[in-house]
Amino acid sequence: MVCATKWPGLRIELLAPAWNLVSSQAALRSCASSHAACGRLSHVICAGDHLLKVRELMSLRSSSVGDARLEDSPQRRPLIELADLTKTFFMGEVQVHALRGVFLRIHKGELISIMGPSGSGKSTLMNIIGCLDQPTSGRYILDGQDISRLKDDALAEIRNRKIGFVFQNYNLLARTSALDNVELPLVYAGVRNRRRKARAALEEVGLADRLDHRPSELSGGQQQRVAIARALVNDPDIILADEPTGNLDSKSGREIVAIMQQLNREKGLTVVFVTHDRSIALHTERIIHLIDGQITDEELVAEPIGVTIETAV
Ligand SMILES: Nc1ncnc2c1ncn2[C@@H]1O[C@H](COP(=O)(O)OP(=O)(O)OP(=O)(O)O)[C@@H](O)[C@H]1O
Ligand SMILES: [Mg+2]
Repeated sequence: MVCATKWPGLRIELLAPAWNLVSSQAALRSCASSHAACGRLSHVICAGDHLLKVRELMSLRSSSVGDARLEDSPQRRPLIELADLTKTFFMGEVQVHALRGVFLRIHKGELISIMGPSGSGKSTLMNIIGCLDQPTSGRYILDGQDISRLKDDALAEIRNRKIGFVFQNYNLLARTSALDNVELPLVYAGVRNRRRKARAALEEVGLADRLDHRPSELSGGQQQRVAIARALVNDPDIILADEPTGNLDSKSGREIVAIMQQLNREKGLTVVFVTHDRSIALHTERIIHLIDGQITDEELVAEPIGVTIETAV
């Protein structure tokens, strides 16, 4: 707050942990530098115009999420808002603190990645964002609704309506065609015109000519595309992908990223994916770094690497 009066128009951005709110890179750079000068940020790195990296965001958090929300206009309200989120697993006598106070805001239409060492809590975070699991404490507001304490049934309903998942191991049914795999969520949801919708989703990921192939008759990259089609078929708002390129060679990995970018750009889907590969993360607009259950760093990628399915080769 020390510098807020100098930049009244940027007060929310300075207080909020979500740097994507800031109206321009130049504005953020000047404010961050100023905060650094005031001792609020100890370290600001600007690497040309391409990458702005702000360290020690933790010092800015100051549990101000509530204040910032009050000042958000409806258009700027985050789609996903996590405030002081924790997750503790109880293994007999032992407690595992998988998430230890996560603050994160994600806006509609963002394409972001999460990076961090093994065991840092990435999958735990994705599972909570995706309503597969509940936090131990803290708040999770999804599209304006506090869902932190909802029961399983209510969470499942939100998950089916809003969220599509993609996993590292594809999780396809082995003896079932691509078309039937993609149709499955529609069967559970009792939706009509299933064939047509499943076919359209497979066409969207470039697999119109592989509808009847079983997973064993497809490459890894193609299997992951089937998994993306399955995630898309219910028309979700958010795609969550936990290391979608982890099992793939670099060319197939780029193809998957190209599809994610295309879905984000053309359908306005909010896409969050976990990756260990920095060269993959640089295709997204923002990189969240998670260490030991906490967000330690965020990077804005001013010019995410663009890739199309044709250029992914
Ligand atoms: N169901 C569970 N029960 C107990 N501990 C768990 C459970 N799920 C995760 N953990 C623990 O929580 C911590 C975070 O796990 P998580 O799977 O979220 O890490 P990760 O960042 O996704 O790792 P990786 O990169 O290896 O996938 C780890 O110490 C893990 O052992
Ligand atoms: Mg994981």
